[in-house]
Amino acid sequence: MEKIIQKIQELKIKKNAVILAHNYQLPEVQDIADFTGDSLGLSIQAKDTPADIIVFCGVRFMAETAKIISPHKKVLLPRREAGCPMADMIDRESLLRLKEKHPAAKVLCYVNTSAEVKAECDLCCTSANAPLVVEKGLQETKEIIFVPDKYLGSYVACKTGRKFILWDGYCPVHVKILPQHVEKAKKEHPQAEVLAHPECRPEVLELADQVLSTEGMCRYVARSSLKEFIVATEVGILHRLRKENPQKGFYPAFEGAVCENMKLTTLEDVLQALEEEKHEITLTREIIERASRSIERMLQLR
Ligand code: 13P
Ligand code: SF4
Repeated sequence: MEKIIQKIQELKIKKNAVILAHNYQLPEVQDIADFTGDSLGLSIQAKDTPADIIVFCGVRFMAETAKIISPHKKVLLPRREAGCPMADMIDRESLLRLKEKHPAAKVLCYVNTSAEVKAECDLCCTSANAPLVVEKGLQETKEIIFVPDKYLGSYVACKTGRKFILWDGYCPVHVKILPQHVEKAKKEHPQAEVLAHPECRPEVLELADQVLSTEGMCRYVARSSLKEFIVATEVGILHRLRKENPQKGFYPAFEGAVCENMKLTTLEDVLQALEEEKHEITLTREIIERASRSIERMLQLR
């Protein structure tokens, strides 16, 4: 492992590359990354980095977002097949049909969508900024279509007092977390606060003390005077939470909340991606231009 890490570090310098990793990646991949974060944080890093090559350790829609924001940089996804099943629950054609039914509506898309879908949307959001994007970016809009996550959509609608036309998408990992898992964890750790990701079911969010994106959880825990937390999201985040807060206790709401796609990328894949500069994300100029509008509008609302 040491040898692989050393080779990755050498190649990174030689090729002026940066490694970005999502908070759900394998611990060893998070540890060699230059930046570990949530979808919003990684998008901002992709925009601001002076590197020529971005090795994106995450899933396809995240690497595509980096490419849309930084079209002149080479963006590599170490495992070609690392996708997001929720993002795959909506495609361009289905969205166009929905838009036809609601011609006056503006479309807000969760960042967990393909570049083709983003190209048909007015505005993009992540789990970290969705209420802010609605309040600042869509205050005059009467009809809002939100795709694809019905749970994030209904959470944001409730928070902002707005009504959305929702798509029937969901994250197959977060829906595995059930209220009874949270109740059980609360009984076992009565002092712990419950942190939940907004992709969870509404019945789980009702039991949460805080509803946060993955980066929001990391920030919240660092500032909190509390010592114990029940974490209702993909279990990969526990590595970072424990590493950054060794004196605090973290308990997964449900151990089975594992995103297989996020676990595909190994250190060997990262090395191979750097050596062979694969698998490069390529998008047409038209898609980049159209999809970048919704992302840039989101980034301006920071
Ligand atoms: P975050 O933006 O909170 O990291 O979430 C992305 C994601 O895919 C959650 O399942
Ligand atoms: Fe997609 Fe869910 Fe995996 Fe996040 S955890 S990448 S939403 S399948």
